[in-house]
Amino acid sequence: MKRIVVIGSISMDLVVTTDKRPQAGETVIGEAFQTVPGGKGANQAVAAARLGGTVEMVGCIGSDAFGTSIRQNFDRNNVLTQHLRTIEEDVTGTAHIVLAEGDNSIVVVQSANKHVQFTDSELDALLDEETLVLLQLEIPLETVEQVSAYCRKHHIPVLLNPAPSQPLTATLLENVTYVTPNEHECRDLFGEVTIEDVLRRYPNKLIVTEGVRGIRFFDGETIRHIPAIRADVVDTTGAGDTFNGALAVALVEGMRLEEAARFAVVASGMSVEGFGAQGGMPTRDEVKTRLERV
Ligand code: RIB
Repeated sequence: MKRIVVIGSISMDLVVTTDKRPQAGETVIGEAFQTVPGGKGANQAVAAARLGGTVEMVGCIGSDAFGTSIRQNFDRNNVLTQHLRTIEEDVTGTAHIVLAEGDNSIVVVQSANKHVQFTDSELDALLDEETLVLLQLEIPLETVEQVSAYCRKHHIPVLLNPAPSQPLTATLLENVTYVTPNEHECRDLFGEVTIEDVLRRYPNKLIVTEGVRGIRFFDGETIRHIPAIRADVVDTTGAGDTFNGALAVALVEGMRLEEAARFAVVASGMSVEGFGAQGGMPTRDEVKTRLERV
């Protein structure tokens, strides 16, 4: 079976839970503080591995205690780390998360994630046609562009999760096989056109995630909608990452896009029922049981 190579960010999430989100210039008293593994790349790798994928994480951590604990977390989750680099002169990336009023706000400090760069011969050693590459936008954009162009040239499928939002070139979008923005990222990418219009431009390629409403994509004939599952929400952080990790697993297993997206919607819905980006990510058996009930 194909392996999944995640080229992306790795962070420690510093999470404050509070009843009230502070306004600019305001101080509030919080309820709790926790550190949990995160970073969009790492989250997607862990989500895919828990669901049974063969997953390799390619990225950078600092030579600090957060880096050590992140390595251990990858080992616990069966994520391969042969190409995980420790950057001696930098610290591990951090994400500063406020959980309040049922949603999160996040400030990401990239740190070691800024060092994710390759020569083409390094990519030769890392990737082949038996690989699906999973990318996000918390590492340098030039790296994302370089990897996508390399993969297009070598017929290697790429799933790009364009988060956090930033303007992307038409070439980058052309070079990837699947793009999975949420509705806000979709507007930032394509401007003020309707989501239906944009979906029609990218059949079986653009999958727009719409939170509690589920996901939509265009199959070449009609716009397909897959509704979200009902969930007891604890923490929505990492739901998008679970969707992407699960979609990658389903695609490398050869599922058709609709079936793959349904699997990913269920996994993602389940992920919000635990605390932390990775806390609620389900195993394959847990998704199977839940799918039987949907
Ligand atoms: O997608 C959720 C992730 O975004 C968090 O884990 C945090 O690290 C931020 O990068």
